[in-house]
Amino acid sequence: MSLVADRILPDEIERRLTTEWLGRTLHYYDEVGSTNDVARELARAGAVEGTVVIAEGQTRGRGRLGRSWASPKYRNLYLSALLRPPASDAPVARLGLVAGVAVCDAIRESHPATIKWPNDVLIGTRKVSGVLAEIEPDGAIILGIGVNLNTAAADFPPDLRDKAGSLLVAGGVPVDRTLFTVRLLIHLEARYVQERRLGFAPIAEAWCEMSAMIGKTIRVDAPGGQVQGVVLGLADDGALRLRLPSGVEHRVVSGDVSVVGGYD
Ligand code: BTN
Repeated sequence: MSLVADRILPDEIERRLTTEWLGRTLHYYDEVGSTNDVARELARAGAVEGTVVIAEGQTRGRGRLGRSWASPKYRNLYLSALLRPPASDAPVARLGLVAGVAVCDAIRESHPATIKWPNDVLIGTRKVSGVLAEIEPDGAIILGIGVNLNTAAADFPPDLRDKAGSLLVAGGVPVDRTLFTVRLLIHLEARYVQERRLGFAPIAEAWCEMSAMIGKTIRVDAPGGQVQGVVLGLADDGALRLRLPSGVEHRVVSGDVSVVGGYD
């Protein structure tokens, strides 16, 4: 292991960024509790749309469904972006899917990746990224994105070792975290602008292509119990549409999904 910490370089991000507004205000920290919490404080203090928070490590990284997000220092990307969509126009779940598609775009520049509903990005069967989209009372959205870039297989907590991966684990070589951040911000702005201009249909289409789940039978472990059905696609609010064995259509709005029998 290198003795010198491999840091993300904010000046280099600024130099290379070609976005119009996303990441033009960038807050970079060595360690925070959660970048989403920092972004929320900034949002409440009036920060502009496109403000981005990045930290080298998180002590209380948060995941979906009340889970924690392992956030070791100097290995991965922990980023939160503040969006201020027009009121009542963009359900938070939909923007989470926008972020998942953008992460998949960025990873696909170097590694094969797929999406698992709602916005987990996998390489093979291992999850390498997750999105936590949160909404503020005034409608501001905080998109929290974690991407495992350079965590080595042995460094994942034992309970995650079978399920979690990183770009390093998948490709065998470390990723330049600064360049990956630039790439992600460019894709995220492009996908968000696409959603704003053209609506959700192009995002849903990209998601369906990336997900490899359409037509597959999946199991959903949701708070209300377990359901199994064939994936039809995404609803306009980001819910997953399933055909149940009874023929009835069912919407999944929360929970964990897995493809029955794997993807093949
Ligand atoms: C998931 O459960 O899949 C979502 C994980 C989201 C993790 C990211 S890391 C940056 C941001 N800050 C957090 O505390 N969580 C998100």
